[in-house]
Amino acid sequence: MSARHFLSLMDCTPQELHALIRRGIELKELRERGVLFEPLKNRILGMIFEKASTRTRLSFEAGMIQLGGQAIFLSPRDTQLGRGEPLSDTAIVMSRMLDAVMIRTYSHSTLTEFAAHSSVPVINGLSDDLHPCQVLADMMTYQEHRGSIAGKTVAWVGDGNNMCNTYIEAAIQFDFQLKVACPDGFCPSARLLELAGDRVQITRDPVEAVRGAQLVSTDVWASMGQEEEAENRLKRFRPYQVSPALLDQAASDVVFMHCLPAHRGEEISEDLLDDPRSIAWDQAENRLHAQKALLEFLVEPALRA
Ligand code: CP
Ligand code: NVA
Repeated sequence: MSARHFLSLMDCTPQELHALIRRGIELKELRERGVLFEPLKNRILGMIFEKASTRTRLSFEAGMIQLGGQAIFLSPRDTQLGRGEPLSDTAIVMSRMLDAVMIRTYSHSTLTEFAAHSSVPVINGLSDDLHPCQVLADMMTYQEHRGSIAGKTVAWVGDGNNMCNTYIEAAIQFDFQLKVACPDGFCPSARLLELAGDRVQITRDPVEAVRGAQLVSTDVWASMGQEEEAENRLKRFRPYQVSPALLDQAASDVVFMHCLPAHRGEEISEDLLDDPRSIAWDQAENRLHAQKALLEFLVEPALRA
């Protein structure tokens, strides 16, 4: 199977990731100028969502339509996947009808197994381990607001979850230092920490993590699939709330990002998204533009007859 997949930021070279961000910014400008750009006419993206979504579904669906193609939403509940049809068979069949497949799932191995049997590109729309489309948009958003992130310091405060793991990959690929403040027992992937070496430091102290940071990011304390742990997590993560006062301890040009959805009063204070240092709404919008660049990169345009 020769298709190019995007299951992780490590599936692209740093040069390719920078090109995707540049292209995302160009596509955003084209859309703002009202220019019609439809290179993916007659192309179809299948989207399998095992978990809920607002931004990921909207940005992929709107993005495909804007590029001249279409997207089809598939819930495992309503397909044979939910009744036990093997993933490998599903991948083969979907590859015969579609031009790319986006999957939001629990186990990352669902993505790797599907990709192994898919002859069209497979895109990770979030797994328990990684959320590369989100961090691609985050990197584009930082670039737009502050220029290159290379050599900067980024702080991740809270759960060492799929977003935090992806920030570790971003630290490697985009060449920045990452400081992670998380409670004991909620650290990011040991494999990724080893891969990142001294680019990533772990601390228990949020103030220490944000000191000197030019970007501070956080995420919910209980991710999708961890609903039963939510109460215990609420207690463990209480000291890790990000607030304007915490941002005051960071660099003077700091920006704040949150992949959303946010729980005000938990991982962020009630007022943080209204703080002028928060760029979370631009970050959410950039899912659309960054993923359009990704779709353009991965999906072959249709040949003219
Ligand atoms: N940030 C993000 O992926 O949002 P959704 O869960 O709404 O897709
Ligand atoms: N860590 C969160 C991200 C949601 C976009 C989750 O996996 O639920």
